[in-house]
Amino acid sequence: MKKIAVLTSGGDTPVMNAAIYSVVRMAKSKKMDVMGIIRGYSGLINGDLAELLPEQVEYISNQGGTILKSARCLEMLTDEGKQKAVQTLKDFGIEGLIVIGGDGSFKGARALTHMGVPAIGLPGTIDNDIAYTDYTLGFDTAVNTAAQEIAKIRTTMLSHDRICVVEIMGRHCGDMALHAGVAAEADFIIVPEVEFDLDQICEEIMARTARGRETSIIALSEGAGNSQEVAEYIKEKTGRDMKHVVLGYTQRGGEPTVFDRILAMKTGARAVELLARGIGGRVVGVRNNEIIDDDIDEALAMQLKFNYKLYEQYQAMTNY
Ligand code: F6P
Repeated sequence: MKKIAVLTSGGDTPVMNAAIYSVVRMAKSKKMDVMGIIRGYSGLINGDLAELLPEQVEYISNQGGTILKSARCLEMLTDEGKQKAVQTLKDFGIEGLIVIGGDGSFKGARALTHMGVPAIGLPGTIDNDIAYTDYTLGFDTAVNTAAQEIAKIRTTMLSHDRICVVEIMGRHCGDMALHAGVAAEADFIIVPEVEFDLDQICEEIMARTARGRETSIIALSEGAGNSQEVAEYIKEKTGRDMKHVVLGYTQRGGEPTVFDRILAMKTGARAVELLARGIGGRVVGVRNNEIIDDDIDEALAMQLKFNYKLYEQYQAMTNY
């Protein structure tokens, strides 16, 4: 291939720029030109793209956000949208496409591959909700941010003998709440994958209070409930001074961790290597510390596995 394109799609992550850097630099090393598509599939459908030069991506790998901007594009779900996208790629002589986004964005990449344009997916989402890869690009940074925020919240809760429900992003996936909760020693972790009983949590809070443990942090995955409602419920049952914090978009910003940057560099490089060999219809990720690529259809059919072992081990550590 002589000319490829790259886009970022869906909710952004702090490490999308590092992935773009990797794609552009690796492609240049293989004498391929790279077009940068603006605002994901919407830019592809509307022909909003321009050549990305190696100097334009210099020093962006430590910056959050995406220089290509990102969007969720409903038009890409329609046949007309997909045909327009293919037409843009043809008009610009683009032979292969790299899509950095979540599983919704991968469906677009799969459709384009089936329509004759080889596309490769890079798992760009903070949620870690893509089954074929152990880690998505941005998860590590988002978890680090959440763990640091919980630690900050804890100091003020301790000063005031308060209890705080901290709501953590992740859509329907509890990975972020689990990992941030464990890393920051949350007292309770609530995730959508594990059934929970708020009344039992209230009893445990009262028991902790009786033992002189006035402060508790509850790490709540957004897929398991609303932090304000949970805080109000616990307050009504226990009479304790309750607060809630929604971490929200802080988890999608900031400087990416070194782990995330290296992962973005390695997976971006593999994506270009595949296209250079004329291979599309694959998704790139990491399993057991190895960079891997899988068939996009098979990858999209895989079932997410929650880390029950870590959840149970941490439960054992906190129930003493
Ligand atoms: O998928 C990433 C994510 O940040 C989720 O954790 C969250 O539920 C959602 O996106 C928020 O989406 P939006 O940017 O559309 O508000």
